[in-house]
Amino acid sequence: MDFSRTDLRVSREKLIRLQTDRSVGDMVRVCILYGSRRGATRTVAQAIERALRKKGYNPRAVEVKQKPDVADCDLVIVGAPVYYERPLPEVLRFIEEQGGLAGKKVTVFILAMAQKFGKHGREYAERRYLRLIMEPIKGDVISSRVFEGWLFRKNETTIKEAQTWAEEVVKLAGGEPDELCRPRG
Ligand SMILES: Cc1cc2nc3c(=O)[nH]c(=O)nc-3n(C[C@H](O)[C@H](O)[C@H](O)COP(=O)(O)O)c2cc1C
Repeated sequence: MDFSRTDLRVSREKLIRLQTDRSVGDMVRVCILYGSRRGATRTVAQAIERALRKKGYNPRAVEVKQKPDVADCDLVIVGAPVYYERPLPEVLRFIEEQGGLAGKKVTVFILAMAQKFGKHGREYAERRYLRLIMEPIKGDVISSRVFEGWLFRKNETTIKEAQTWAEEVVKLAGGEPDELCRPRG
């Protein structure tokens, strides 16, 4: 598993707790919610949806603009691109409007170009962008990742990495793939 340092720290803590309070047979209803200006985050969210469907889950990627209801979601995967040094404001607003996703398991992913600038760019993006998106979250963040975004040409590596990451986090969240979770638009 190629988790970033930040991610690994969060994941280890949560993994210990999840292993102790998870009951056998729990099912995880997964929702993928995202914002996007130019389509990259949408493409990644939809790729995650496809990957999880192949694994037997039944999520649907929904844009936060559609004001989805997260009541039926156990695990919320939230995605946002960075513009002018901040995760897209509509995603942050959505998290706040949903009470910080309190009571949910949450994973977040960010798309940013800072990733392109080597180790320092990556560390900067993880420190700043992940902190900003995690600030309003009151739920249980079990994993977080920054992926390299794009402006024009689709980044196939990002898409594959995001799919692998999502497959790992649903396992981390526990339970068998099953129930339908359609955020009501
Ligand atoms: C006007 C503009 C501002 C951007 N600002 C940042 C930034 O501050 N930091 C960063 O890492 N990436 C920045 N990016 C890169 C985007 O985060 C990246 O292209 C992302 O994949 C866009 O996602 P979207 O297509 O879902 O909107 C910016 C891109 C644009 C076009």
